[in-house]
Parts: sequence; C-alpha cells; structure tokens
Amino acid sequence: MGEMLKADDRGIEAAALALRSGLLVAFPTETVYGLGANARDEQAVRRIFAAKGRPSWHPLIVHLPSLQELPGWAADIPQQAWDLAEVFWPGPLTLVLKKAGGVSAHITGGQGTVALRIPNHAVALRLLRAFERGIAAPSANKFGHISPTRAEHVAEDFADEVAIILDGGPCRVGLESTIVDLSGSAATLLRPGAIDRASLARVLGAPPRDSQGEQTTRVPGMIERHYAPHKPTRLCSYKNLEQIACSMKAEYGVLSLQKRPPCFTGVWIELSSEPERYAKDLYAALRELDHTRAAEILIEEVPVAATWEAIRDRLRRASTQSNN
Ligand code: TXA
Ligand code: MG
Repeated sequence: MGEMLKADDRGIEAAALALRSGLLVAFPTETVYGLGANARDEQAVRRIFAAKGRPSWHPLIVHLPSLQELPGWAADIPQQAWDLAEVFWPGPLTLVLKKAGGVSAHITGGQGTVALRIPNHAVALRLLRAFERGIAAPSANKFGHISPTRAEHVAEDFADEVAIILDGGPCRVGLESTIVDLSGSAATLLRPGAIDRASLARVLGAPPRDSQGEQTTRVPGMIERHYAPHKPTRLCSYKNLEQIACSMKAEYGVLSLQKRPPCFTGVWIELSSEPERYAKDLYAALRELDHTRAAEILIEEVPVAATWEAIRDRLRRASTQSNN
C-alpha cells in the first residue's frame, strides 16, 4: 500500500514532493477524498485513469490553490463564474468553463471545457499552496465504486498505485461537489451537491437548468449505477423495508432513518434525519454494509425535498441494478 501519512507539515511536504515527481497523492477535501496528480503532467494524469480503472474519456476536476490561477485554466470566463466563485469558493462547487489553451486533453476528456474547483479543506488548501499549481483529482475510489470519505476508504480501494495517502479524518460534507456548467448559453446543473439550487439561484438570479440528453454521457456521475456498493442494493419505503428485512428470506444489511425493529437481526444502520448529517455518514455506512455477510442491501427512501436532492441522486445511482 502507499504510505498513509498524518497531514502535518512533514506529510504535506512529502505529498507536494510526490506530486512534483509525477506520483499520485490521495488527499482529503470537504466533500470526499481526491486522487491527485500534477494537472500539468500528462504522464501523471494518465496514472489516475490507470489506477481508477476509469475510461480515458471521462474528464477530471482540476483543484486550484487560489482564484488567481483561474485564468491559467479557463478562457472567456463569464461574470457568473466570478460571482459564484466569490460566494462559494473555497467550497463544494465545481465550475465547468471553456478551457484555456494548453490544458491537456487527458484532463478534459478531449472536450473544449474544463472542470475547476477550490476545495474548502485545510489540508487540501495547504497541499495546493505547497504545490503551487493545479491538482487534477477525481474521487479516490475505483471507477463506479463508492466515493471515499475517510483515509481508510482510500486504502481499501488502492494498493501501491498511490504513493501517499494524507489522512485528514472524515470529510465534513460527504457527497461530491455540486457541478455547474457555465460554458454554454445558460448555467446548467450537471450534478447536485451540498450547494443546492436555491443557493445557486440567489447568485445567478435564476435557478440553473437541468442537464439532459447528450450531456449526460459526458458526466460519469450521470452514468447509472455509480457510487455503488458491490452487493445488490435496493431502495424501498420503510414499510416494505421492514417487511422484507424481517422476512428472513435472506440476510440483509439495512440503511434506515428509523430504529431497528425487534424482528430484525442483521446489520441495521440508522442514519440522521437531518440531511447534512445523513450525507456526511452515507458513504461510510454503505461501505460498512458492503463488508457484512448480507446478501443484499436495503435502503429506506429519504424525503422528497430540496434539501435531500443530492442524497436522493446518489441513492438512486447506488441502487440502479443495470449497468447502462
Ligand atoms: O467533490 C468532488 O467533486 C470530488 C473532490 C475530490 O473534489 N471530485 C470528484 O471527482 O467527485 P470525480 O472525477 O469523481 O467527478 C468529477 C465529475 C465527473 O462526473 C466528470 O465527468 C465531471 O466532473 N467533469 C469533469 N470535467 C468536466 C467537463 N469538462 N464537462 C462536464 N463534466 C465534467
Ligand atoms: Mg467519482
């Protein structure tokens, strides 16, 4: 396995050095852990795809140390991008913009746009400032698997493909960033996240449009069956869930908003009814259930409300059975 390091001065220095040497470094952000490489080093960026088992046409997010770096990566930056950046950066928001000249096709998946974000996490920011350049980083999980929200999750998915894992403890947000595409004529929401539509609308003057059609193939987050456990995973109402779980037809692992009913004897994880806390704990809970002996994972449906949109999106993808 790559070296797991505390995110102190020595750890940060070693990680920045590894990045300069073209190696991969996993680091914490407020959303999930990222699998980072020097975004200006094609060889290093290729290592990300090889390590993740990710198809080469899936574009990566470039993490920046500061707003001053933005023009080095994006061209024709619209006012809306500056407005969103001012309010939400550093933070869990990724902007898709027209790419600047010289940005590698390996980063953009051969497209004319690039995804950029300044993360709001002390360790990520210290690493970015020590490295002084852009770090390309997808979530630090094998392609299609559950995103990592703890350093141990990264170690579960990777062996020595990753030189260093910086341990920054559990991620505060727990779901991947909101992605807004500003490269076209109207702001478009490509992936819901902690920064919700209403917050975006306050800055943009109107809610972003929904992505549809051809765009969906460009965003791996939009591929069904993503963020998924290995075990078959089903979403159901509490009533159905209790019925199935207590039927004893098979061993189930359960994720619920309620307490374990007395009839159930398997692994039951109760998550918070408060969406921010639910989001923070979700991926760790899914990984935990995936490690049990259960034949199947049952997840209780969550409320249909704006504050639960990003969670509902990830639960739907975790539980889609087909791979199309
Ligand atoms: O919170 C996050 O965004 C985490 C942390 C590490 O920053 N990163 C993350 O990266 O979730 P990843 O690669 O797992 O997801 C990035 C998403 C993908 O769905 C990708 O297709 C999309 O960003 N993306 C990247 N560049 C794009 C572009 N030029 N146009 C459209 N989508 C893009
Ligand atoms: Mg990912």
